Formats: sequence, C-alpha cells, structure tokens
Amino acid sequence: MIIDNEEIFVTTIIMAAGKGTRMKSNKSKLVHKIYDKELVKRVAEVAEKVGSDEIITVVGHLREQVEAVLGNSVKYAYQEELLGTGHAVMQATKFLEGKKGKAIILYGDVPILRPETLKNLLSKSIKNKEYATLLTAIYENPTGYGRIIRDEGGNIKAIVEEKDANMFEKEIKEINSGIYCFDIEELLYALKKLTPNNVQGEYYLTDVIKIMNDKGLKTGAVIVEDNTEILGVNDRTQLELLTRVLRMRINAYHMSNGVTIEDSNSTYIHDDVKIGVDTVIHPNTTIKGGVVIGNNCEIGPNAYIRENCMIGNNVKVGNFVEIKKTKVGDRTKLPHFIYFGDTEIGEDCNVGCGTITCNYDGKEKHQTKIGNRVFIGSNVNLVAPVILGDDVLIAAGSTITEDVPSGKMGIARERQINKDRKK
Ligand code: UD1
Ligand code: CA
Repeated sequence: MIIDNEEIFVTTIIMAAGKGTRMKSNKSKLVHKIYDKELVKRVAEVAEKVGSDEIITVVGHLREQVEAVLGNSVKYAYQEELLGTGHAVMQATKFLEGKKGKAIILYGDVPILRPETLKNLLSKSIKNKEYATLLTAIYENPTGYGRIIRDEGGNIKAIVEEKDANMFEKEIKEINSGIYCFDIEELLYALKKLTPNNVQGEYYLTDVIKIMNDKGLKTGAVIVEDNTEILGVNDRTQLELLTRVLRMRINAYHMSNGVTIEDSNSTYIHDDVKIGVDTVIHPNTTIKGGVVIGNNCEIGPNAYIRENCMIGNNVKVGNFVEIKKTKVGDRTKLPHFIYFGDTEIGEDCNVGCGTITCNYDGKEKHQTKIGNRVFIGSNVNLVAPVILGDDVLIAAGSTITEDVPSGKMGIARERQINKDRKK
C-alpha cells in the first residue's frame, strides 16, 4: 500500500483463536454480531479499510465458524493450543518469512476500532522509523491490562502484564491495548526469542517490546484519544455496551452532517448509511446497512427501513412503515402502517394507511412497480408481480392482482350491500 507517499508492504494479523467462554454461547464469540455484522468481520474490514496488502487470521477454537464468515478474503493460520498472544502470532510467521514492511496486530474481539486510528499508528510508525509502535490508552482503572513502562525521557521500555507487575508498576495508568504496528523482520527475530518464563507460562507478544529495546531498536506509542475504540467483547454485557457505543458514534456522525435525530437512544442506524441534510429521524427507527436517504425527509417514529432501500428527497416514511429493497421517489408519502418489499415507487405518490405489497408467494419474491403521482387508498393489497402506471388511483380496500395502466382507477373489491338487520 501507499502511505504518506511511500510504498510499503503491510500485513495485518488478526488473533481469533480464543474461546470466549464468558459469552455462554454455542457459537464462537467472534461470529456474534453488532448491527448485523460479525465481530471478526468488523475487524477484517478495519484491516481492509486501512489498506492492508494481506490479512492473516489466526484461528483455533471453532475455526470453521470464523472461516465461514471471512471466506477467502483472508489467509488462515491455525493455533491449536492457546499458549499466549506471542504464540498466536508465531503461527502466522510462515506468511511473513522473507517479507519486508509492517505487521499490524489486531484482536478479533476488538471490533469498533476506527480505521483512522490504525492509519495514524501506521503513519507514525513509518515517520518515526519505529520497529514497534503501540496503541496505548490511559485508564483510571487499569486493572487486568498490561502496563506501559517508560523511562524518564518518556521512551517505551517494556510492557508488564498485570499478573507479573510489582506494586509500583500496578500504579501505572497507561495500558497496552494489544494493537501494534511492528517491523516485520524485527518481529520475526523477536518472536524467536520469546520464552514462557512468566507467571502465566505463556508466550507473551508484549515481550517483543523489551527484546527490541535490548537490541537498541527504536519503539514508540500512540495514545488513543477515544478509549471506547479499544474495547473488547468478552461477554454479552460488553457486546451490548459496544453496540451502544457504535450506535452513538454513528448517530453523532449523521448529526454532524446535518441530520436531526430526536432520540439517539432509540435510533439504530447501521453501517454505511447515507442520509441527506435536514432529514429528521423520529424515535424507534431502525435503518439497515447501506440504505440511502435523501434531503429533507421525515422518517419514523417506529419506521423500519431494511436492506437495499433508496429514498429520494422530501419523502415521508412514517410510523409502522417497513420497507425492504424499495426505491422511493421524491416527495412521495408513506405515512403509516405500510409494508413495501421489492418495490419501486415514483415521485409525488401518496400511499394510504394499511397498504402492503404481497411480494412473496411462499417460494419466490416478486416486484411491484408504481409510477409517478399515484394515489393509493387505504388498506390495499398489491399482489406482486404488478405494475401501476403514472397517475393511477387505487380505491381503498382493493386487492390488486393485475396491472393498472396510466391514468386509470383500479378498484377490486366486493360492492357493498346493506341488508335488513335480524330482529
Ligand atoms: C493482552 C496483552 C495485554 C493487553 C491486553 C489488552 C499479552 C501478553 N497481553 O492481554 O498487555 O493489555 O491484551 O486486551 O499479549 N489470543 C489468541 N491466542 C492465544 C491467546 C490469546 O488468539 O493463545 C487472542 C484472544 O482470543 C484475544 C486476544 O488474543 O482476542 C487477547 O488475548 P487475552 O487473553 O484477552 O489478552 P491478555 O493476554 O489477557
Ligand atoms: Ca483479555
């Protein structure tokens, strides 16, 4: 990849061999999802977004589940026994032999790291010619984490694990996130020197720092600005916490772009959604990944906008409206209680309360196409496949099974009769 005008080979190693016992799950922790996307997939995407030339995932426990999610977008190394983070990286070295460049280390269960943060780590590592650059954080309560040991000049000396730390080291509030950028050749050298001579009897990747320093190689660190980025998932409570953090981050992003969100706590906007300025999102709204919404729309409350929807400008998608694989033209109103699936509706339409597309026949999904300036009365069933032309009017209560040409009115219901009441 090219970084700061320099061509450099970057490989990313994702540690994904852990057990995740505390999830109390039959599934690998790494395939649990935040906003429809597996934790390990999120991590692999960060590695891709940063521009990695190669991604190596170290799998172990329930490897087949992780491999099913990542497919052949990454290479796999296998760690049979969990003998520590250093041991995990050793399993990937067969891919690194003979290569020059940088190796980034990520955890498969640390899923909401921002690619910008990683890019910054990589950039600093190259600019400062560091052989190891650590991502660290300042924690008020650092218990459980590896502590960063610096000398009087502030240079990184080593990382000491909680279990190996003395009482002075335990006072240190700068912790190791576990995310690093290494020089590949020197990493390979240091890995060969690792020993499990510590309280836990593990091969610590963290010992690489001391080995490099002893060799006189320059190391450094970047302190993460937003501590939530390095949060990991060990149990369901943390899974919920990270979902919440991501939700707030995404919502803040849209608000900073000119979208009004009435209640961030109940607004679930998934990844890669585009929303135009002055659109207002009312509470209890879910918008799935990749959806595009124009300017000045009104969405919700209680709207569910699912995958592959494209919504134009000045559109209303009101309460209890669910749409999926649906394109909505400018100024069209779907005010309440509507289900549209596999539908294309044009501009300046108004759809009555209770209107649904019957898009599924039990085997296949079918398309509904609706033109411009169409008025659909309340409680209409549109049995797909069906096409309504421009300027069509559909009478309330109709079940439409046949196309309606432009300019026509479709009415498909029993005529009312009024009978005498029985006495
Ligand atoms: C590690 C760091 C510690 C840091 C902390 C941040 C070491 C020795 N310590 O702690 O300094 O503060 O992360 O969370 O590196 N894994 C494997 N194979 C193994 C061991 C671990 O794949 O053999 C994976 C785990 O699934 C997990 C990650 O590596 O995703 C970190 O392992 P974990 O045991 O949580 O970290 P610690 O060793 O406690
Ligand atoms: Ca841990």
